[in-house]
Parts: sequence; C-alpha cells; structure tokens
Amino acid sequence: MTVEKKQRYRFSEAPIWELQRAYYEEKGLSAWNNDQVPQYITSNPMIGAAYAEMLFGFLQDRAAKGEHAETVNIVELGAGAGRLAFQVLHELCQLVDYAGIALPPFRYVMTDLAGSNVEAWRKHPALQTYIQRGMVDFARFDAVQDTELILAESGETISKGDLRQPLVIVANYFFDSIPQELLYVGGGRIHEADVIVEYPEHKDTLTTSDIVAGIAMNYELRHAPEYEADTYPYREIITLYREQLEDSHILFPEAGLACLERLNQLSQAGSVLLTADKGDHLLEYWRFLDPPELILHGGNSFSLTANYHAIQEVLEGQGALVLFPPHHYENINVGCMLHVDSPQDYVQTKLAYRRSVGRFGPDDFYSLKWWIDGYIDQMGLRQVLSFWRLGGYDAEFFMQSTKRISALLEDALDEEKEDLVRGIELMWSSYYVMEQQYDLALEAGLLLFEMERYGESKRFLEISVEQDQEETVSTVYYCLAICCFDLDLEEQAVEYLRQLVRLEPDHDEALALLSNFDPE
Ligand SMILES: C[S@@+](CC[C@H](N)C(=O)[O-])C[C@H]1O[C@@H](n2cnc3c(N)ncnc32)[C@H](O)[C@@H]1O
Repeated sequence: MTVEKKQRYRFSEAPIWELQRAYYEEKGLSAWNNDQVPQYITSNPMIGAAYAEMLFGFLQDRAAKGEHAETVNIVELGAGAGRLAFQVLHELCQLVDYAGIALPPFRYVMTDLAGSNVEAWRKHPALQTYIQRGMVDFARFDAVQDTELILAESGETISKGDLRQPLVIVANYFFDSIPQELLYVGGGRIHEADVIVEYPEHKDTLTTSDIVAGIAMNYELRHAPEYEADTYPYREIITLYREQLEDSHILFPEAGLACLERLNQLSQAGSVLLTADKGDHLLEYWRFLDPPELILHGGNSFSLTANYHAIQEVLEGQGALVLFPPHHYENINVGCMLHVDSPQDYVQTKLAYRRSVGRFGPDDFYSLKWWIDGYIDQMGLRQVLSFWRLGGYDAEFFMQSTKRISALLEDALDEEKEDLVRGIELMWSSYYVMEQQYDLALEAGLLLFEMERYGESKRFLEISVEQDQEETVSTVYYCLAICCFDLDLEEQAVEYLRQLVRLEPDHDEALALLSNFDPE
C-alpha cells in the first residue's frame, strides 16, 4: 500500500472514530447482516437470561426497600441490532409472572447513536407487545455528548435528577466501541501515545468501509503532564498506574466515564451498570501491554479492549460495589457495578450475579458452545436437548443441529420427541428475527414434518412461505399439502399441490395426487 497522507492525532481524536460512527449511522441494522459485526456472544438468550436474573434481583431489592411505586428505567447504550433487549425483556417478564410478587414497574429504553436503528426497532414485530404494554421505549442517544433521553414512544424527556429509582445501564460491546485515550506509563510519567494515521491510496474515492480496512496506525509518545496534575478528575487512578505499571500502554475510558457520570446524574438514587465486553478489570492485564491493534469486523468496523479496571477503580472510589467473576475470562467479561447508597444491601442482585455470571456465565457458555459446534455430529439427542436448554433454546444452536437431530429421530424416544416439540415452541417464542439470518420457521417446520407433527409443521411452514414466497422451494408446498391432507383440510391441500405444480410441472407425486381432484 502506498501512502497518500500521514497525519498525527491524539488517539481519541483520530479519524477512525468518526469513520466508525459514520459506518454505524450509514448501515443501521444492516451492520449486523450475516454477522459482519458480531452480536451472538453479547446478545444470545443465555446472556439475556443472566441479565434478566440480575434485573429481577434488583427489582426485588428495590421492593425490599419499600420502593414499589416508581418505574425502574433500564437504558441500553449502543443497543445495535436490538436482540439483547428483546431477550432480556422476554425472560424478565417470565420471571416476574412466575414469581407473582409485588415489584416496581420497569421500562427498557433501547438507545443508539444510529437514528435508523431506533426507527427499525420501533417497527420490529417482536417488540410490539412490549411497546403496547409500555415496557419498552426508544431514544437516539449519543453517549459521547448527550445529557438527556428523549423517548420516542412516550414523548417523555428524562433529564438531570428526574428519576427516583436508580437508573440501570446496560452496555454490551459498547465501551470498546467509543473513543478512548491511549496513555503510556514509563518511568513514573504519563505520556499520550499519539497516532500517526496512514490512509490507503486514493482515499477520497473509497467507501468508509474500505478506508477503515486500509488504514495503518503507528504511535509516537508525547509527555502529557495534564494527567499528573491535581486538577485531573481521575488523578487517583493515574497515580496508581504511575506507581504500579512500567512500560505499559493503557486505553483510558475518559468518554465512557463521562457518559456514566452524565447518566448517573439522571437519577437521584444513583445507577447500576450491567456490562459485557472484551475488557479487563485486573491490573495485571495492562502490565507491559503493547499499543493496541484495531480488531476489524468484516473489514468494516473495529473494536478495541475496554478498560474495566479504570471503570471499576473510579466507581469504587465513589462508593460503588463492583462485581466481576472470580476467575479469568476467555472472550467476554461480564460485570455488575452498583453505584447506589449501601450497595451491599442489594442482596438479590448480588446473588443473581453469583448464580448467573460468577459461578457459570455467558463467557463459559460461549467457550463451551464454540467447542461443541465442532462435535454436534457426535452428540446424542439427550445431549443436544440439554445443551439447547442450557443456551435458552437458542435458535443458532438449533440451526446448527437440525441435521444431527434429523439423523437421530428414527431411534428417538417419544418423550425426547415431546421435548423437541416443546423446545421448538419455546425457541420460536423468544426468537428475534434479524435480516438475512436464516429461515428458522422453515427448519422448524421441516423437522416437525419428519416427526409427523403435521399441525405444528403446517404452522411453521406457512410462516416461512409468508416471510418469503419468492424463495419458497417446491418441497415446502409438498410438505404443506401432506400436512393438510392429514389434518383433513382437503381444499387447502389441493391448493398447495397446484402451487407446487406451478413451480415444478413434472412433479410426479403431486400430479398423481392432483389427478384425484382435477380429473380434467
Ligand atoms: C459493537 S456494536 C455493539 C452492539 C450491541 N450492543 C451488541 O452487543 O451487539 C456498538 C454499538 O454502539 C453504537 N455506538 C457507537 N458509538 C456510539 C455513541 N457515541 N453513542 C451511542 N451509541 C454508539 C453503534 O451504533 C453500535 O450499535
């Protein structure tokens, strides 16, 4: 690559951040098509259930303090495709209904920088019942600068000091996606690592994605005494870094901390942060760390590492209780930070964290899933069902296992088949459709057809046809016709056969069946 231009910037002001913002704003929800930006690890039903457990614990803790009346607002930052919000709402509503105890009402506010995401969520079929029940609202919110939340459905504005309940903040794959400072600690001094950006050739003719993919970055150190001054708001943690680290690069989340402070001020009772990221809360990680490399997602957007250590130190300095797993994480670190009065009193929240994250959590699940994906064709139906249940009847695992399930059906026990049918229903009820993913209804319908569960099969196959008639293959019409015959729906069966013959005029079986009804 020859270089057209080299420019020097503070890391947090480098053009990569503007390019990244432009990418999310331009793409809207299509940024997640075919997993260009990864979302599975931060948005699957298992992590959704873990968050719902903590939120349920938090509602119980507020109720135990006599705070039943006021609504608890849960604000998700950078909610992206919107799948986590849906999984959390789905599970939280189930927990609340199941427990049947008096709890404060709650409202989940999905926010993002990209206004087009907000518009798409408002129309998403999976969110409609929650909108009608006043349990979900939406706001375009630029976490780097906005100070209030303007809600799209209710028309309310949440400003400084408005809330009586603590504000719950959800932030997944978020702190690694907004600007951070890049500091270097050496010889007890703080430097900023400025970035020298080298653009790809002919950058003016390239798309945003191509520029991000083609950018090269080098670093040059500059002594930055402002971080060492008494007036620097995060001086204590900087002092810690100066004393404890040597020859280390640190991503410092000034924008993230300022955002948390602004959100904390919306409530008179503080805030709670539930967050997951590639992010380290242990100082050891940052020791002798080299400057960061951008992790590119499909060559279009990028992420870095979140500095949970700094966020933890700053919040603990303000009296918060911070929970991270006692063991090391592999792919995603999940934290819960209670920035409220007497955080130790939040017993149910703490216990939920211990059960759903500390003991075995989303990171453990993801590691297991990653390994199991390679061995599905060696699993028995019992194991497939168990792992599917562990993942909260995850649609992705189902899609990966349908072939294996189909191969095992012949020897399956009746009760295993019953569990399979029940699992399909549960999976469908918690499925959040995303563009260009896969046709879950089709796969479910075909498997149910193989199991001779014709009523259920018909329902799913018809959903699949309705979703994309143009793409429907002839086999589906054939299965639908057989389902209808079995259910004594003769007229519908004939109609499906006719549709099949329109697609495949020489389909012998269809023609033979039709001859009984269309003698001419
Ligand atoms: C890596 S994605 C994560 C999406 C989602 N939370 C997940 O886990 O899949 C980062 C998200 O943050 C949003 N974002 C980026 N900068 C932002 C900002 N300054 N304020 C609010 N959202 C922002 C992007 O639009 C995108 O939806």
